[in-house]
Amino acid sequence: MAKTDGQRTVADIMSRPVVTATPDERVSAAADRMRAQSVGSVVVVDGDRAVGILTERDLVRLAAAGAATTALVSEWMTPNPDSVAPDLEVATAFARLSEHGYRHIPVVDDGHLVGIVSMRDLMRIAQIQPADSLAHEIPRGLEGVVVAETDIGDVRGLEGFYHYRQYNAVELAETRTLEDVWYLLFHGELPTLAQRDAFLDEIRPLREIPTAVKDALPEVAGVAGSAPPLDLLRTTVSLLGASLGFRPSLDLSRDELRAEALRVCAVVPTLLCALHRLQHDEPIIDPDPQLPYAANYLTMMLGEVPTAEHARAVEQYLISTIDHGFNASTFTARVITSTGADLAAAVVGAIGALSGPLHGGAPSRALQMLDEIGTIDNADPWIRAAVERGDRLMGFGHRVYKTDDPRSVMLRSVAERLGGPKLEFAERVEQLAVEILAELKPGRKLYTNVEFYAGIVMDACGVPRAMFTPTFASSRVIGWSTHILEQAADNRLIRPSAHYVGPPPPQPVPPAA
Ligand SMILES: CC(C)(COP(=O)(O)OP(=O)(O)OC[C@H]1O[C@@H](n2cnc3c(N)ncnc32)[C@H](O)[C@@H]1OP(=O)(O)O)[C@@H](O)C(=O)NCCC(=O)NCCS
Repeated sequence: MAKTDGQRTVADIMSRPVVTATPDERVSAAADRMRAQSVGSVVVVDGDRAVGILTERDLVRLAAAGAATTALVSEWMTPNPDSVAPDLEVATAFARLSEHGYRHIPVVDDGHLVGIVSMRDLMRIAQIQPADSLAHEIPRGLEGVVVAETDIGDVRGLEGFYHYRQYNAVELAETRTLEDVWYLLFHGELPTLAQRDAFLDEIRPLREIPTAVKDALPEVAGVAGSAPPLDLLRTTVSLLGASLGFRPSLDLSRDELRAEALRVCAVVPTLLCALHRLQHDEPIIDPDPQLPYAANYLTMMLGEVPTAEHARAVEQYLISTIDHGFNASTFTARVITSTGADLAAAVVGAIGALSGPLHGGAPSRALQMLDEIGTIDNADPWIRAAVERGDRLMGFGHRVYKTDDPRSVMLRSVAERLGGPKLEFAERVEQLAVEILAELKPGRKLYTNVEFYAGIVMDACGVPRAMFTPTFASSRVIGWSTHILEQAADNRLIRPSAHYVGPPPPQPVPPAA
């Protein structure tokens, strides 16, 4: 009799024979084998004992580190990998992989390697499992759960590394322009000189706000009073999509959807600056087609062309925040796109998710925290009292990074380049806070995240606090749009289930009072 899904074990779905490598082999040889056999990992063996695992992620890490092709498997593999037994039920194996964020896990029977099972194999089975057999296994906040495949980028929390496409994101921020990285996200490769020129010609006119929307902005800003600019952006992107006749992504070709995405990404910075200025009774400054992205952005916001140093510092921040794995706003954009809704709907939803202080709303709060601490003498007791009360230190901690956030490291060096009165104080508070968090929250691995030095950098460049999170949104919209395009290109409705834990139904419905 055929097994039901609930009875299926790892042995039923694992792959074998396993593609293997030995510890003393060169990584390049193991990588060739992975490619030839179209597998995402090799199990490193000593005889038939699994002593390590080498995955595609390790290969990207190795390439990013610029390590020599002579590197040995033993130097780059994860030693003593977790394994599962062949008689384990697939639901339990699924929970194990999701909990740890593994993509592959060796199957070991009595110490002998007998197969390998991948997240993809398990997802295929898990999709047709009744939800309640799995729901209670799913970690809160979906931590570590792999919900899609993407070739846009990834975040490796334990290594403190993230990348856009095949490039180290920090290196891109250090060496490239925002427009180049935008092109990379949309096209999968960095532009040639000619491609860059053509791209600039394409996007610069799109920075202009369509007349109908521009005419409506004073009223939007007037009604909203002193509401955060991001709230106004949410409303205006909705208006923009409606007035430009955006259609359901389900009905659009890739080129049509790309055109809408370019329009939104190009005009969002203009909208933000216009709304900010209107809120301060200042005239809107139109985009300058001669200026590159960041210089134009600061000019439209502040009313004067920034120094090259300030423009570059903000540009580096913007590049470093374009994309970052399956964060809450990106996931929101993908969920909305998966329903076939139009691109503006997905961007509006993403803006809403980003506005929360646990996601994008922290940089001004980090600076506010520094203000409240006031002096270095006050830092130790202030931080201690806050953590003991159970408060969160803004700009610290991250769902994925359990070591230094590479964005924070880069922004600290940008802040050091700029100098400024807050820098030294911020560095000392950072050091103290990390020490106190390690003492009072042992094992949680809490370090500064992107938001801590983002505030310092933007402040040094004259960006007002109210525009910190909006500035984050102005580049993240490029990441959202890339994900929207990817989701739409290979779509399936995202519709998970929940585990019901309320009183058992059906209860008799009491008569109306
Ligand atoms: C970013 C953040 C939401 C990630 O949260 P998360 O992955 O859900 O982490 P958890 O809420 O599970 O926290 C794990 C532990 O670390 C502690 N912790 C996490 N961030 C902390 C912070 N900033 N300050 C003090 N303690 C913190 C939690 O209190 C918890 O301790 P407990 O185990 O004693 O309950 C969280 O670190 C945070 O709130 N940071 C401050 C806001 C911020 O900087 N946001 C910008 C994000 S880029």
